Amino acid sequence: MNIAVVGCGAVGRAVCELAGSYGHRVTAIADSTSAAVDENGLDVTTVLDRKAERGTVGSGDREHALASEYDVLVEATPTTLGDAEPGFSHAERALARDAHVVLANKGPVAERYGDLRAAERDSAGTVLFEATVGGAIPILSTIADLGSEDVTAVRGVLNGTANFVLSRMSAEGLDYEHVLAEAQDLGVAETDPTFDVEGTDAALKCVILANVLGDGDVTLDDAQVEGITRLTPSALDLASEDGRTVRLVGEVTDGEDPTVRVGPRLVPEHGTLAVTGTQNIVQLETRHAGQLNLSGRGAGGRATASAVLADIGRLP
Ligand code: HSE
Repeated sequence: MNIAVVGCGAVGRAVCELAGSYGHRVTAIADSTSAAVDENGLDVTTVLDRKAERGTVGSGDREHALASEYDVLVEATPTTLGDAEPGFSHAERALARDAHVVLANKGPVAERYGDLRAAERDSAGTVLFEATVGGAIPILSTIADLGSEDVTAVRGVLNGTANFVLSRMSAEGLDYEHVLAEAQDLGVAETDPTFDVEGTDAALKCVILANVLGDGDVTLDDAQVEGITRLTPSALDLASEDGRTVRLVGEVTDGEDPTVRVGPRLVPEHGTLAVTGTQNIVQLETRHAGQLNLSGRGAGGRATASAVLADIGRLP
């Protein structure tokens, strides 16, 4: 496949680095202010070295990359809420010319699912978005394999940053600000971790799951969301005295009117949901197969890029 990658953060860069080893060719890379395009295949190392040294991938602009020839557009620009722009328009343009779209950007799938599916219906291209939920963990492809009508509910820990903070607070008795600063120093948390600690990122992932299960048009506005910013070490101590701990848990219940809730929940200290560090876990409740548990790396450039590349491998 010839791949155009729009968005050159940790995930976009890792997709570019790994694409060759999956048998693909990167023909365009765009960041927010520049682009590099070569329809015969870019020298990815040179482009990414230039990005590291000068802050730009090339001398063209994003338009140049979007207008180039490619088989699949990888949309890895930052998630935006509401109209989900510019990610939505990037996807729409690629579909309008019958190219495939693989999203790492959650915005179009969480906020404009109906519009995205409508654009896909009018196209010979396919839209896939495994990387938007749970990083490397094959959650959406498992649901697709089972059949979404077989899955009745999903519950899980879907934010690595919040989980790192909660598991460190709990293990070391440290306060929230201290552990968050540590997470930022280690590069676990984003420079602006607001979406992570306020529960927005986990809620977007749950909204995407609700849309997939119900083939509906749920958005973040439909979700009940509470973050972890007000949790104190003493609350965690109290939970621990009772053999429990706290995790930021997202829940999706399928049905006519799917419900999406995210918030801190008490879970058994050594139970399945009490994953530590940046790990994520998802529990699928199924009609015929009972409960399935999937866990692994929920964040990180290479881990998330592996989900993007797995999607590219699934394209027709
Ligand atoms: N920042 C997210 C997390 C990963 O910490 O899990 C991207 O959704």
